Amino acid sequence: MALNSTLSVAVLSGKGGVGKTNVSLNLACALYQAGFKALLMDCDLGLANLDVLLGITPEGNLQNALLGEAALSDVLYPVEPEGFDVLPAASGVPELTEMSPDIRDLLLQRLEPVLGNYDYIFMDLGAGISETVQTFAAMAAARIVVITPEPTSLTDSYALIKVLHNRFGMRDFMVLVNQVASPREAQASFEKLDGACRHFLHLEPVLLGHVRNDNKLPEAVCRQQPLLRFAPGCPAARDLQSLAARLQRIRLGMADWLAARKILQTVPQ
Ligand SMILES: Nc1ncnc2c1ncn2[C@@H]1O[C@H](COP(=O)(O)OP(=O)(O)O)[C@@H](O)[C@H]1O
Ligand SMILES: [Mg+2]
Repeated sequence: MALNSTLSVAVLSGKGGVGKTNVSLNLACALYQAGFKALLMDCDLGLANLDVLLGITPEGNLQNALLGEAALSDVLYPVEPEGFDVLPAASGVPELTEMSPDIRDLLLQRLEPVLGNYDYIFMDLGAGISETVQTFAAMAAARIVVITPEPTSLTDSYALIKVLHNRFGMRDFMVLVNQVASPREAQASFEKLDGACRHFLHLEPVLLGHVRNDNKLPEAVCRQQPLLRFAPGCPAARDLQSLAARLQRIRLGMADWLAARKILQTVPQ
């Protein structure tokens, strides 16, 4: 049996609108350019919007696969020319906006056969600390908390980390500071969150990196294209490429640990 080397990453935030979906999809693009294959899962079951950002109108989605209306393999859509696959979710469908343990187990069972085809699984979560967010966050091998320098983003992300730490004993959080003016601003924002986590929770988040505030990003969103396609050389795109390279080094460093665990799981390790 081949050793598992797939890294599953939950992309989280306390506050909404901080850039989780754009970060997830552009990391998937950047990693494909570097030779790695990603699956991007829309895990925002209430307000899914990955399809909108990609300008695609998928016929089926995660909820259809969970309700037995479609095979999981039929709701994985290749995004070209970016080269990653997307598993879209339905938005505004009242059934299945929340993740019960039964649904989680069904999801894991349906996903299991396909996960090993990828180097990365990115789970683009909804904002906040709902049960669904907590369940997805606990399933992944790694977590990226996306923050911005706004004080509300810092307090909300601290609350999210605290909830996950208290409930699951989680200690490992990577922090990505989005919409910054400079690397120095990213460092200062990280230090505020890091200080609170060390002092009150006795855990040490890791700064994954930053993405600069860039007008090209809202433009790419309006054009429904990934930033890396719309404006590949812009400052935010270059930052996302550096982040992808950093993540790849982290995945290599985790190789033994990844080989010894399931790609997604019910009990956090
Ligand atoms: N680095 C950035 N520079 C400029 N605007 C950004 C940046 N990142 C995100 N945005 C803006 O924030 C909006 C919300 O991003 P999105 O990825 O949908 O956030 P979330 O998934 O966390 O709700 C985008 O539509 C874009 O206008
Ligand atoms: Mg989003």
